[in-house]
Amino acid sequence: MMVRVLLADDEINIIKVLQETLKRAGFLVDIAVDGDEAISKVQNSLYDVALIDLRMPGKNGIQVLQTIKERRSDTIVILMTAYGTIGNAVEAMKLGAYDYLTKPFENEEVVKSINQALKAKAVAESGGFKEGNNSTFIIGNSMAMQRVMNVLDRIKNFDSTVLITGESGTGKSLIAKALHAMGKRKNLPFVHINCASLPVNLIESELFGYEKGAFTGAVNAKPGKFEIAGKGTIFLDEISTLALDLQAKLLTVLEERKVERIGSTRSKKMSARIVAATNTNLEEAVKNRQFRDDLYYRLNVITLHVPPLRERKEDIGLLIEYFLKIYQEKFNKNKITFQPDVYDALRYYNWPGNIRELENAIESVVALAVEDTVTLEDLPVRIKRNYSLTGDVSIKQGNYLNAKDQEGIIIIEALRRNFGHREKTAKELGISRRTLQYKLKKLKIT
Ligand SMILES: Nc1ncnc2c1ncn2[C@@H]1O[C@H](COP(=O)(O)OP(=O)(O)OP(=O)(O)O)[C@@H](O)[C@H]1O
Ligand SMILES: [Mg+2]
Repeated sequence: MMVRVLLADDEINIIKVLQETLKRAGFLVDIAVDGDEAISKVQNSLYDVALIDLRMPGKNGIQVLQTIKERRSDTIVILMTAYGTIGNAVEAMKLGAYDYLTKPFENEEVVKSINQALKAKAVAESGGFKEGNNSTFIIGNSMAMQRVMNVLDRIKNFDSTVLITGESGTGKSLIAKALHAMGKRKNLPFVHINCASLPVNLIESELFGYEKGAFTGAVNAKPGKFEIAGKGTIFLDEISTLALDLQAKLLTVLEERKVERIGSTRSKKMSARIVAATNTNLEEAVKNRQFRDDLYYRLNVITLHVPPLRERKEDIGLLIEYFLKIYQEKFNKNKITFQPDVYDALRYYNWPGNIRELENAIESVVALAVEDTVTLEDLPVRIKRNYSLTGDVSIKQGNYLNAKDQEGIIIIEALRRNFGHREKTAKELGISRRTLQYKLKKLKIT
């Protein structure tokens, strides 16, 4: 089933660019060039997602939002607005908008926001993880993942701050969302703030909001993310990238549980639950004085570590099935299957980019597949190369001619790097000394 998206904006350039991006991301796109057209479209067809400009000739974005919600309440509505004109972001969120994007934004941001919303919706539909670890959404039944799900289940209703750690791509953002969706806050806002992607000069006004006239360009007052979150969850992603002066400000918010808009003298109570995530070692950052120790202790009340995929390879099989199904549907290639050695190769690989890398690999394999059967040949080079080193099977099968040469080159290069030291070379290649010995013999290097 393809996802149907309505795109409504009166700026034709935005329509053109976004339409292209959304199509490329696999969505079915319908467009409207003003508010009236948007309303008539939503009255005549059903959309999964609506991307609506707030200010348009004819009916405005809020009116379109209301019409959509009357017609089909589970349509995901994302509003787009020029910077500084969102005065009523809170209103829009209350009326059921899922998110709003401030122009100018990166096209990728739109796709990301839509995908996030679709996933969050899937969570809600699957009963919001009520059953603890038998959710169908966070995939994995390794001991490590069961432990993570268990902890989530125990802490979902607390107000304590949670710090999620783990390498890039292990699922930290997904887990933060799950924590929100599982607990008592599930119907309240989940506000994602990516500290790394916000321009430094915008972070402060995004987080705290501002009053009208607080600075040049502050034409209308704007609520900050803390305010928008209300009693929901604030997710501070990539927290380690926050500049030191903002760390100080955040610390004050956490200590006093109050926020003040820029240019305001009144403070408001901050009642959101804070969840932070980092893929770098914060303790290290504290030692190097890049991260405040007092903020670190404030954030690190409950720590949840998400282990890298290579430490829970048992999950790979399930993840393959899950992503295969998703991309079969997305690309309308339901007959695609993987040959057994494709599964083997995917299990052998160490996945430095974790689940994100696995997901991307499967997406590209399915997208590019011409035949219904995916063979080793179709896998990304780094994955088949690794398999040929550890697995050997493909070389024997002879359907992978270059593997042997490549393997030889890799081994020789590794030997050089390690000055001929066999033990170290084997370790670097991730194979046993015996296997290395055997391979060297085959290569006639002794
Ligand atoms: N256990 C899982 N089951 C299903 N999908 C997963 C799982 N873990 C991660 N994913 C998917 O893998 C991708 C990467 O996950 P996510 O963005 O949560 O990683 P991250 O740890 O936040 O990475 P980064 O540190 O780069 O922000 C996402 O598309 C996410 O939905
Ligand atoms: Mg993340």
